[in-house]
Amino acid sequence: MASLKILVVGGAGYIGSHMVEHLTRAGHRVVVADNFSTGFRSTLASVGPMELVEMDISDTASLANLFSAHNFDAVMHFASYIQVGESVGDPGKYYANNLAATLSLLQAMSRAEVSRLVFSSSAAVYGEPMYIPIDEAHPKAPSNPYGRSKWMVEQMLEDFDRAHGLRSVSLRYFNAAGADSRGHLGERHEPESHLIPLVLQVAAGRRKAITIFGQDYDTPDGTCIRDYIHVVDLVDAHEQALSYLMAGGASIALNLGNGCGYSVREVIDTASHVTQQTIEVLSAPRRAGDPARLVANASLARATLGWKPQYPELATIIRHAWAWEQKWPWQ
Ligand code: UFG
Repeated sequence: MASLKILVVGGAGYIGSHMVEHLTRAGHRVVVADNFSTGFRSTLASVGPMELVEMDISDTASLANLFSAHNFDAVMHFASYIQVGESVGDPGKYYANNLAATLSLLQAMSRAEVSRLVFSSSAAVYGEPMYIPIDEAHPKAPSNPYGRSKWMVEQMLEDFDRAHGLRSVSLRYFNAAGADSRGHLGERHEPESHLIPLVLQVAAGRRKAITIFGQDYDTPDGTCIRDYIHVVDLVDAHEQALSYLMAGGASIALNLGNGCGYSVREVIDTASHVTQQTIEVLSAPRRAGDPARLVANASLARATLGWKPQYPELATIIRHAWAWEQKWPWQ
């Protein structure tokens, strides 16, 4: 692909920073827009050369200036709040950031006639699965404001396509995990709520124990099953989605997962094996809103984009996350 000029919104976050690194390595020119509400300024010091614009995309006037200062070929939008539980308690925060701020971005894009967007969506658009593995035709019945905000954006995208010719690829991530294989970028959330980083904090001695939320699910070992997908594989899919749009591809939504589910117990056991550490486990009741199983059918992404995950093995995902975890304290 020829060198493109890409706006990466949320480029200081976990997945966004891996994307910036990948794009700059591939020779693209990158402008990062981030408000550092959850991303880290220091993360951007570890990625390739890019231009940083500190801004909130809900500020439509600043966005308009940004679009007139640059001739973007495409936008990649990673900026969103991601905690399901928080979204239930404070839905306004999620609709303001994930929905309204995205609307501001779409308006600025269509006014500037920037017509290609890769959007970070989520398996949370499906809600409680009616069947497994979940394909894109599965009913969309999100069970919390976080998932609803993602689904509403996908619906807005259909309308912006119809009205303004804005072409988008919505990538519905299952459980993003892992870290850049060279170990200089990785997952970092404050506070951390995701299983793999928490388990590795226990292995590293930074946390006493991992608490399993619910061991009475209808699964072989009673714990929840998830489809963990390596962040580098996610990033590859974004680059392929960009090529697809540049080649004139129509708007589409695609699942990104390995199609293979691992239970919480299996994640802990694999982490114990990879790190060679004993991981202390505590039990707690189910966490509200956790479906028993979430496993992707990602054959549409494979067929449409030619996507093929390089790191489907859970042990590899955890090994790369462990290399990053051992670099703590991060700057
Ligand atoms: N879990 C524990 N203990 C913990 C943390 C998690 O037992 O301390 C369990 C959860 O109950 C769940 C599994 O580990 O069964 C995975 O939990 P994560 O929080 O790592 O991930 P989720 O599946 O809840 O969430 C992910 C994304 C969300 C997205 C959701 C659905 O992080 O942004 O998938 O797509 F909404």
